[in-house]
Amino acid sequence: MIYRLLYVSTAANTLSAPELEAILETAKTRNAALGLTGLLVFTGRHFMQLLEGERDAVEAVFAAICADDRHSSVAKLIAEPAPDRACPEWAMALQTPEGAEVTPEQAFVANDATIRESLPDTMPGDLRLLFQSFNSVMVPRAASA
Ligand SMILES: Cc1cc2nc3c(=O)[nH]c(=O)nc-3n(C[C@H](O)[C@H](O)[C@H](O)COP(=O)(O)O)c2cc1C
Repeated sequence: MIYRLLYVSTAANTLSAPELEAILETAKTRNAALGLTGLLVFTGRHFMQLLEGERDAVEAVFAAICADDRHSSVAKLIAEPAPDRACPEWAMALQTPEGAEVTPEQAFVANDATIRESLPDTMPGDLRLLFQSFNSVMVPRAASA
């Protein structure tokens, strides 16, 4: 069994494209060292992130993430043992909104269709639904906020 954790959060108003790139670089390096994998979706205002691996490592990284002032209102949605990884190939992949300046290696355009197409086949249905609906649920909130 591995352990998986899914949360949503709100990016700091000041968050810039280079900062987002720096977050991804840190995440990929540290996660690879700790045997963690996952996916980070950024709508331009909100994050949804899946972290998976050994429980102690997931919780240690999540504690650091919670203390990070580049985002706030961190809300844990799922924290549970799981039989397999949903994203075994990604130390941390990033999806950003269309037109975002960030174009790291694994960046995708985060609209519902491209998120759906880019989710790995190994991702179970419940996580798939959460990632697929996240963009369309959260973007209108950001627009009307
Ligand atoms: C939205 C978001 C996602 C992050 N994802 C990760 C991650 O997957 N892995 C990671 O090690 N750090 C991640 N970070 C960075 C951590 O918050 C933290 O800065 C980093 O792990 C270094 O921790 P330390 O300051 O305790 O050494 C993320 C930060 C943000 C704002």
